[in-house]
Amino acid sequence: MPAYTHSGDHVQLHDLLFVSLFSEAQVSARVRELGAALAQRYGDKQPLFVSILSGAFVFAADLIRAFHAPCEISFVKLTSYSGMQSTGAVQTVMGIDAALEGRHIIVIEDIVDTGRTLHFFLEYLRSQQPASLCTVAFLRKPSAAVFPVEVDYVGFDIPDRFVVGYGLDYNGLGRNLPGVYQSAEP
Ligand code: IMP
Repeated sequence: MPAYTHSGDHVQLHDLLFVSLFSEAQVSARVRELGAALAQRYGDKQPLFVSILSGAFVFAADLIRAFHAPCEISFVKLTSYSGMQSTGAVQTVMGIDAALEGRHIIVIEDIVDTGRTLHFFLEYLRSQQPASLCTVAFLRKPSAAVFPVEVDYVGFDIPDRFVVGYGLDYNGLGRNLPGVYQSAEP
């Protein structure tokens, strides 16, 4: 079986079949709304966006271009996943290169699943005494309640199925899909 085939609203990645959940047009309309809402609140604050790598890089690139006001962006790499299972531990693989104290920080996350990644990272950010802290997640699954995290802005609430596309991968594949696809199996 080939590792990658894509036809219409289906995509096969490794051993799994995914079906379309949100089209490219739906995604871009929602991201523009989020950017406008953030600009209304932070337009005069020159916020520092902090994007969690790797999954949020596509969302972050579009979101900051939908934020029509001065801003900066920095990146952090945290990992807790291998394949379709969370490994339990959250590791910082690459840290932030910007000073956080006194800044208005907007964390950009691709998807909040158990909430472990964001919970861990927000604890660290709070310790750096930012002027304010808010979170934006492109997607959120219902299992997000496992770890207590407040997500201020959510692109889409989705069912508890593994998803790929728009930056999200399944064992390395699928990040370049412009829409979002969910696993055909529950
Ligand atoms: P959490 O720590 O359980 O909230 O998981 C967050 C991270 O796991 C996300 O930033 C993603 O990188 C990854 N993840 C969780 N669910 C999915 C999924 O359905 N597809 C791809 N990656 C996922």
